[in-house]
Amino acid sequence: MTRPQNDTFLRALLREPVTHTPVWLMRQAGRYLPEYNETRRRAGSFLNLCKNPQLACEVTLQPLARFDLDAAILFSDILTVPDAMGLGLYFAEGEGPKFERPLRNEWEIRDLTAPDPNVHLRYVMDAVAEIRRALGNSVPLIGFSGSPWTLACYMVEGGASADYRTIKTMLYDRPDLLHRILDVTATAVVNYLNAQIESGAQAVMIFDSWGGVLSHAAYHEFSLAYMRRILADLKRSHDGQRVPCIVFTKGGGQWLEAIADTGCDAIGLDWTTHLGEARARVGNRVALQGNLDPMALFASPDKVAAQAHRVMSQFGEGTGHVFNLGHGISQFTPPENVSVLIHAVHNYPLQGSSA
Ligand code: CP3
Repeated sequence: MTRPQNDTFLRALLREPVTHTPVWLMRQAGRYLPEYNETRRRAGSFLNLCKNPQLACEVTLQPLARFDLDAAILFSDILTVPDAMGLGLYFAEGEGPKFERPLRNEWEIRDLTAPDPNVHLRYVMDAVAEIRRALGNSVPLIGFSGSPWTLACYMVEGGASADYRTIKTMLYDRPDLLHRILDVTATAVVNYLNAQIESGAQAVMIFDSWGGVLSHAAYHEFSLAYMRRILADLKRSHDGQRVPCIVFTKGGGQWLEAIADTGCDAIGLDWTTHLGEARARVGNRVALQGNLDPMALFASPDKVAAQAHRVMSQFGEGTGHVFNLGHGISQFTPPENVSVLIHAVHNYPLQGSSA
């Protein structure tokens, strides 16, 4: 297999020369787009969208039809994995994701097993294949998973949490039980990401959205160690092409050297880190992805462009930068400002990195 026609995203992740800085946005398909809301209405619910490969493909392509994006990301959710483990995912209106059967009892934790992704998450693999067909040779497709720690937060808490009290009580009182959950979940994530790669994902990203709520010691023991194991077991090439992996720990700015040591190809950064300083710390080991504050997109267009330029100049010269937001795009974002942002990134003069 050859690379897609626009391979700047893959080139930047592998720190090869690029003609412009590639850009994509976390949650680029979503509620800020009226066409997404229309498809979601037709589907009946967000989960129906995720579980229908044709509709998942349709919404994946929507932001690419509107904007000059350099990558597509599979439309799905990180919580499909614990759903496939039998926890019963549902979305309560206005309350975010919840599980009918959160993991609390020792015997349930002992019984937990990793699902076969080609059976229990077949709809995701079918969506990946469908999206690849629809994209043709245009831009690469990103697959993804949650990190074991971030998935465990939802599995144990049963939904979003303000203080992570239940899972942290387990962490301090019964670390053996939490390790058991993380162990099974890490196996599930490896199998899930490898199945996505086999189905056609050309890069993968691990979302460790809640790694930043851990203490220094707990981050290394309960989050990073499992991501390192995943990286070791991941298929790193497919069809003769390297499949780069991005690790994103939100709030992980103090652990960049340790994240780079996991063997990932790139680190995702939230907006609290200075890109240039991050780059000086990790050197040539990994590429960097990020890191505009998603709220900057609510400013007037000239300010949006100026903030994009600031991120670009912080990174500095040379390749190895994938422009993104520091977290998912807000549902209230004006779509016009996304066009302004992408234009500003693509037209920023690059020095010392052109192909
Ligand atoms: O980036 C993309 O465009 C791909 C799609 C994607 C979604 N969720 C779609 C989605 C991805 C990569 C995710 C990952 C995800 N899901 C994470 C990790 C990234 C992060 O944001 O930290 C997490 C923690 C989740 C769990 C989750 N799913 C939450 C907390 C919510 C509610 C969010 C909210 O704003 O209400 C979801 C639902 C969800 N996942 C939506 C979308 C587009 C909104 C669903 C809707 O249409 O109502």
